[in-house]
Amino acid sequence: MTGVAPQRVFAACAPGLEPTLARELDRLGLAARAVAGGAEAEGPDAWAVACLGSRSADAVKARLWEGAAPGLAAARRDLARRYPGVELESRRDGERATLSADAAGAPLFKRGWRARVGAAPLRESLAGGLLLELDYDGSTPFLDPMCGSGTIAIEAALLAGRRAPGLSRTFAFEGWPGHAAGRTQAVRERLAATERIPPAPVLASDRNGGAVRLAGKNAEAAGMAGVVRIERRDAAEVDPPPGPGTCLVNPPYGIRLDREVEESWRSLGSLLGRLRGWTVGVLAGDPALSRFLPGRPARVLEVQNGGIRCAFPVYRP
Ligand SMILES: C[S@@+](CC[C@H](N)C(=O)[O-])C[C@H]1O[C@@H](n2cnc3c(N)ncnc32)[C@H](O)[C@@H]1O
Repeated sequence: MTGVAPQRVFAACAPGLEPTLARELDRLGLAARAVAGGAEAEGPDAWAVACLGSRSADAVKARLWEGAAPGLAAARRDLARRYPGVELESRRDGERATLSADAAGAPLFKRGWRARVGAAPLRESLAGGLLLELDYDGSTPFLDPMCGSGTIAIEAALLAGRRAPGLSRTFAFEGWPGHAAGRTQAVRERLAATERIPPAPVLASDRNGGAVRLAGKNAEAAGMAGVVRIERRDAAEVDPPPGPGTCLVNPPYGIRLDREVEESWRSLGSLLGRLRGWTVGVLAGDPALSRFLPGRPARVLEVQNGGIRCAFPVYRP
């Protein structure tokens, strides 16, 4: 230990990804445990580490006080004096209570590279979290054959390049009284030092020309244009490199099953047969659609995407 008082955070994520987020915060050097809706974590510079480094968190709350519920009012007065202008959120859980503040100040999934919102873009943090859930580390090829605006492939490129997602952002806690700017700068430098050129290809394709152009713009804005290779192609015609590799895909789904959606899933099914040795995660808005994919998934996770319950079957063809 450095002798610096540890900080505590509650980081929120998409329901279903709590254990993934806790593992990620652990790997970033915090002591974390999964709780409903996210993870609690503790360690030196936890606010900076979680805001700058987490790919799967949507929000980071700095836990400024925790104690017996009757002490809440006095603690709030004390914190309001120490952190003037900072909005405090209180929570009571039986006899215990907490006071927290939004350390990030803006949603963490807004990484700042999205040129324009595509038809149904995934949150960057959900894409990042699902990649971690698949144990993708960038050392083998990556493929999203239905890339839309490119969210998943761009997150894969950032992860493969070990680029911390918050490096070019400024967070609310940096403006709080008593902020130790030198320590946050040291966290930034430590995270930046891990960057590398991704060692394996990051491939993205979509049959829609507009999607391919948008994904290209987004990749450029994210500084990943030279890393993500984007092509216009039907999933049924993608010729993947030999495995092992990681494929993460978010195929279309409709309120009702229409022919076009069914056809997309059949195309994905035919690609799956050519992904021997790969790990394939499919974010399925309608779990019933996975019947168009061959074989049984190795495991199925349930996650929420913007309030919609999704199945996340993982295949090892
Ligand atoms: C739900 S969107 C993906 C959204 C994407 N994850 C994002 O964040 O922007 C589904 C995408 O699948 C593409 N698609 C549908 N059928 C396809 C097929 N057979 N081959 C390739 N792409 C296909 C659509 O053009 C659409 O861009």
